[in-house]
Amino acid sequence: MANVELKNVSKVFLGQSGVVHGLTGVNLAIPAGEFLCVVGPSGCGKTTLLNVIAGFELPDQGDVLVDGARIGGPSSDRFVIFQEPALFPWLNVRQNIVFGLRMAGVDQRIQDEKAEALLKMVHLTRFASSFINELSGGMKQRVALARALAMDPAVLLMDEPFAALDAQTRDMLHEELEAVWQQTNKTIIFVTHNVREAVRLGSRVILMSGRGGSILKEYPIDLPRNRYLEDVQVVTIASKIRDELRQEAVRANEAGGTDAH
Ligand SMILES: Nc1ncnc2c1ncn2[C@@H]1O[C@H](COP(=O)(O)OP(=O)(O)O)[C@@H](O)[C@H]1O
Ligand SMILES: [Mg+2]
Repeated sequence: MANVELKNVSKVFLGQSGVVHGLTGVNLAIPAGEFLCVVGPSGCGKTTLLNVIAGFELPDQGDVLVDGARIGGPSSDRFVIFQEPALFPWLNVRQNIVFGLRMAGVDQRIQDEKAEALLKMVHLTRFASSFINELSGGMKQRVALARALAMDPAVLLMDEPFAALDAQTRDMLHEELEAVWQQTNKTIIFVTHNVREAVRLGSRVILMSGRGGSILKEYPIDLPRNRYLEDVQVVTIASKIRDELRQEAVRANEAGGTDAH
């Protein structure tokens, strides 16, 4: 378990069209074991936020702390899952899952035990020997999730991981991810442009501003679990946040910022 804290974090990019404010003065405390969802207009800095927590990007200003210690770069205690799972096509499902353990020289017997447990957890036991090109999009994301869990990171960073999946597969992955979170108590920071997904999953949702990557509002989500995308309360809260998001996207557009999503 780990808590993550951003203190006055700013990140500026020098792009083709000048200076872009990726993040501006972000203050955010994420207690250990929280399931935090992040929404905001596209281009508002959601991926940048994950990147500075992952340590892929260093902030220009401010600090990112994990359990009170300033991070200096990427580490296996913070694992990122992307929209397009970056799996190894020349390895089968089981080999993909234990890849990190193998690289770390973990004992073969422990690798095998972990592989079995994780295959079961993500419902892929039957496909342990399949190669990645034989899998559906949802199965690939399950492999990516299992591979992340194999390293037992304290923090899981997920960047629109289910955006490319069909609705049924996404619903199933919501349930599986929620179960994994409940069983492992990991800190999860989950970026999505789907507000309803954020309310379905998050114990808190933060809305980022489309103008320069700051945090506009936050919404604690106290609904009981397990939740469903169609729950009236989920839909009601989501539509409130979506209204706010739309207004923000319009304001950002008028300011020449980002596009509405
Ligand atoms: N490496 C980079 N170089 C230049 N500009 C970047 C870079 N990474 C992100 N940006 C810019 O920073 C802003 C925030 O990007 P990003 O975090 O990817 O937004 P989101 O994930 O919310 O869509 C965007 O305007 C984007 O173009
Ligand atoms: Mg992004």
